[in-house]
Amino acid sequence: MKIAFFGGIYNNYLALEAAIEDANQRGAERMYCLGDLGAFGPYPDRVFPLLRDHQIECVQGNYDNSIGNDLKDCQCGYTDPRDNRFAQISYNYTYANTSIQNRQWMRALPSEIRFEVDGVRFLLCHGSPRKTNEFLWESTTSTHFLERVFNDAQADVVLGTHSGIHWQRTLNDNRMFANVGVLGRPENDGKKNVWYAMIDTGGAGEVGTIRPASAVQLEFIPLLYDHERLAAEMRSENLPDEFAETILEGWWTTCLEVLPGKERRYGRY
Ligand SMILES: [Fe+2]
Repeated sequence: MKIAFFGGIYNNYLALEAAIEDANQRGAERMYCLGDLGAFGPYPDRVFPLLRDHQIECVQGNYDNSIGNDLKDCQCGYTDPRDNRFAQISYNYTYANTSIQNRQWMRALPSEIRFEVDGVRFLLCHGSPRKTNEFLWESTTSTHFLERVFNDAQADVVLGTHSGIHWQRTLNDNRMFANVGVLGRPENDGKKNVWYAMIDTGGAGEVGTIRPASAVQLEFIPLLYDHERLAAEMRSENLPDEFAETILEGWWTTCLEVLPGKERRYGRY
């Protein structure tokens, strides 16, 4: 079975629309979103009809938990005053432009989703299985830590998002962790595309047998969408020019403090 996994949407309904179409063309039979529906982009309410119309089940991200529970900030955990200022602009805009019905819908989202397909046990979370707003970066996440995660999780494949940069690691015993990336903004690499992940479970296993994660094929898919339209809409909604610049240029301009040294060295700022 082919399953598509979308990370943080950050109000980028144009990328979500493009991702749904792309995943359908590639034969996805199911689609999931790993949370953070709001932030950063324009017109928050345009995301929800797409999720509902295409039966996309969602994990609750830190943003969704905050907006759904009327909290004062996004629980992103920034300490730099500049990062906090931009995060708050984005949060206040998203909160003010999300309908009460959609806020209530976000409040009810689960913090994790589990299912089994073709004998492969999946666990979908937002940051990590133990903490919704935990950043798992490739350069700072040890294999030892992932082994502990898997021992607790009782799953073969664990998927998350939250950090904004995709990566994947297979453990010796065939279990696989992947950060599926985000649809909301490019990956701080000077490119305009965003990313999502497609998993092919490799066909039906024998009844009653557990298939190892090595039978699972994971593909990270670069996705182009109408980024110029998104940037124009961000500007017409009076969102900061720094946000539109990220969409148009592919470099992160704000909230860089959370990036570890290795990931930050690839960026412009
Ligand atoms: Fe998040």
